[in-house]
Amino acid sequence: MPKYEASAFAPINIALAKYWGKRDARLNLPTNGSISITLDKFGSTTRVIFDETLEADVLVLNGEEVRTPETLRKISIVLDELRSIASTRFARVPCARWRARVLSQNNFPTAAGLASSASGIAALALAASHALGLKLTPERLSELARRGSGSACRSLFDGFVEWKRGELANGSDSVAASLHPASHWDLRALIVVVDAEPKSRSSTGGMTSARNSSPFFQSWIESAQATLGPIRDAIAARNFHALSRAAEENCLRMHACAISASPSLLYWKPATVALIHEARKMRAEGVEVFFTIDAGPNVVIVATAAHAAAARARLEVFLKNSGAALLETSPGRGAYVL
Ligand code: PMV
Repeated sequence: MPKYEASAFAPINIALAKYWGKRDARLNLPTNGSISITLDKFGSTTRVIFDETLEADVLVLNGEEVRTPETLRKISIVLDELRSIASTRFARVPCARWRARVLSQNNFPTAAGLASSASGIAALALAASHALGLKLTPERLSELARRGSGSACRSLFDGFVEWKRGELANGSDSVAASLHPASHWDLRALIVVVDAEPKSRSSTGGMTSARNSSPFFQSWIESAQATLGPIRDAIAARNFHALSRAAEENCLRMHACAISASPSLLYWKPATVALIHEARKMRAEGVEVFFTIDAGPNVVIVATAAHAAAARARLEVFLKNSGAALLETSPGRGAYVL
């Protein structure tokens, strides 16, 4: 009798070229491609158990049952898709109709703009596909994870990752793949957790609002597509100077698009702005760093390995008595089955 359960770990990722905008909200198809770094150590460990006694999918996150409809909907989209693949492949496997209990644990502050849905959904897609005995290709898994949360499709892969916008209406070409393994470039990511509270507005809500009301939305998409090449090239050539410039520009333009929505989406706190200035100051003094910020107040300072200790020392002084936490990590491997 096969066991209908499995566990997986998936890491968080930080986008250097941001995904911001959906061309198809149901399939989570992006208006633009994106490039990220999969980060070591921090992520979600998720166990999925298909259970015939359940009437609905259940999510227990960090020991507490989640009842938020938006979050439950995300996990059921991924699980429904997998149940449907399983029922066509093995018509006699009863668990294809069973609901699942999903037990997930994050080892970082949840919903703090640290891509918690990315690692959680990537771990879910991998664990659930294994629990059902489905041997899916990395592309198919990426497509599935994308349905639950766009940026999750990148957390499956190692190191430096690109998610292609894709052209097809069914989304089968809108998947991520690794550009380079983690060993390609020894960078460090210093994550400054300015505020560990869940963000006030979800990424999906933010993207919809920006698309519907920001007068700069179209310009953002054009600029986001145009920066993919320079960011990809800077990573390939390990050109930190070029990457700093292109990644900061991309981040600020994404936030300019969010800020210019109506009502305005201002994810930043005063400490976020102070850290932008601090990163610029460090760089002017010769410390190799740049900043990037996802849809929340937290700032990720990326440094070269040679300058990471200096950057960290500066940040520790800067953050003293502020209550902000500092997490250090580096490029890492993608999701894996436990
Ligand atoms: O995948 P979502 O729906 O959580 O959206 C992520 C959006 C950003 O974090 C702001 C950018 C990105 O590419 O990760």
